[in-house]
Amino acid sequence: MTSRRKWAVIPGLVALGTIAVLLSAYTGATQGPDTVITDRGSWGYSAGSSPQGRAPVQPIAFPHPTHVQTLGMNCLYCHFSANKSPDPGFPAMSTCMGCHLVVGPNRPAENGKPARKSAEIQKLQDYWNKKQAIPWVRVHYVPDYVNFAHMPHINAGVTCQTCHGQVQQMSRVYQYAPLNMGWCINCHVGNVNPLWKARFDCSVCHY
Ligand code: HEC
Ligand code: HEC
Ligand code: HEC
Ligand code: HEC
Ligand code: HEC
Repeated sequence: MTSRRKWAVIPGLVALGTIAVLLSAYTGATQGPDTVITDRGSWGYSAGSSPQGRAPVQPIAFPHPTHVQTLGMNCLYCHFSANKSPDPGFPAMSTCMGCHLVVGPNRPAENGKPARKSAEIQKLQDYWNKKQAIPWVRVHYVPDYVNFAHMPHINAGVTCQTCHGQVQQMSRVYQYAPLNMGWCINCHVGNVNPLWKARFDCSVCHY
């Protein structure tokens, strides 16, 4: 390659970079289109919990909007133990395959769109055939020294969206709230909703 040709590549790279930045701005990965309070309260420090905005790439690009908005599925259909056990956990493969043995990778033509092959459903089928669990990357976590359970929150009527944002609109799940101590306490003292007052002595959240 002559040096002239080498430099000619640069405007192309700049254009690609610009497109990538523009595209990433439209993924909504840092937008939370609602009124949920993500205030850090007066504590302001953060150590140990997963960071706000975290949006790891998943082994299968699982679309919440398709399942929740288009198909009308309830969050608890997949995260079924959120109101019963401390952890909502990730759905079992059998929950997916109840549908995806029928809804396979070869998608027929429909609504005027041509037939296509879904690489993501193909990946799901490959894990199933190999009897492997899908290695989902965890998005949210609090450190071990923090006592958090979903059950008391769900039972008190705190919605999933209050803490997780509009997951049903996220093409890729991201962490909506800071999950730091100030965020927890700000709600427990009743600042988010006076009906959601909860105990906030240290031993409630720390063992
Ligand atoms: C409503 C729940 C809640 C209550 C009540 C609570 N904490 Fe925490 N605390 C947390 C969470 C969540 C974290 C992890 C924060 C993070 O990662 O940003 C944390 C972190 C901490 C840390 C580690 C901070 C650091 O910078 O490493 C200390 C120390 C701590 N809390 C002490 C206390 C004390 C003392 C009290 C009582 C005055 C208390 N906590 C009450 C939820 C709570
Ligand atoms: C068809 C099954 C299904 C339904 C319905 C569903 N989810 Fe999920 N959810 C998943 C799967 C699979 C993952 C793991 C992959 C990912 O993070 O995208 C996940 C991940 C999540 C996470 C991130 C968990 C973490 O790693 O911290 C949250 C939060 C979540 N879902 C909330 C919801 C909410 C809220 C609803 C209802 C609006 C919902 N989900 C409906 C299957 C489902
Ligand atoms: C109630 C039935 C049902 C369940 C349960 C279900 N899905 Fe789906 N899923 C569908 C349907 C229907 C589509 C849309 C297929 C289409 O666009 O033709 C879909 C689409 C998808 C897609 C997008 C495919 C594409 O290329 O557009 C992925 C990935 C996927 N599902 C993965 C999963 C995973 C992982 C689970 C389990 C956590 C799951 N599904 C559970 C019915 C279901
Ligand atoms: C009061 C805030 C709050 C509410 C309400 C809430 N979550 Fe969570 N969620 C969290 C926190 C904090 C974590 C991290 C927990 C940990 O590290 O143990 C989490 C983690 C998760 C995870 C990751 C896997 C796991 O087992 O921890 C899933 C999935 C999830 N939430 C789904 C949901 C669903 C579905 C709802 C509604 C039914 C919901 N959450 C309601 C705060 C909340
Ligand atoms: C949006 C409001 C809200 C947020 C945010 C929130 N909580 Fe809570 N929390 C509640 C409510 C409401 C209850 C139920 C109170 C009751 O039943 O008396 C509760 C109950 C609890 C309990 C059980 C308390 C008991 O008396 O047994 C623990 C533990 C807890 N929360 C920890 C946390 C931690 C840790 C965080 C942050 C990671 C957090 N909460 C964030 C509203 C919230």
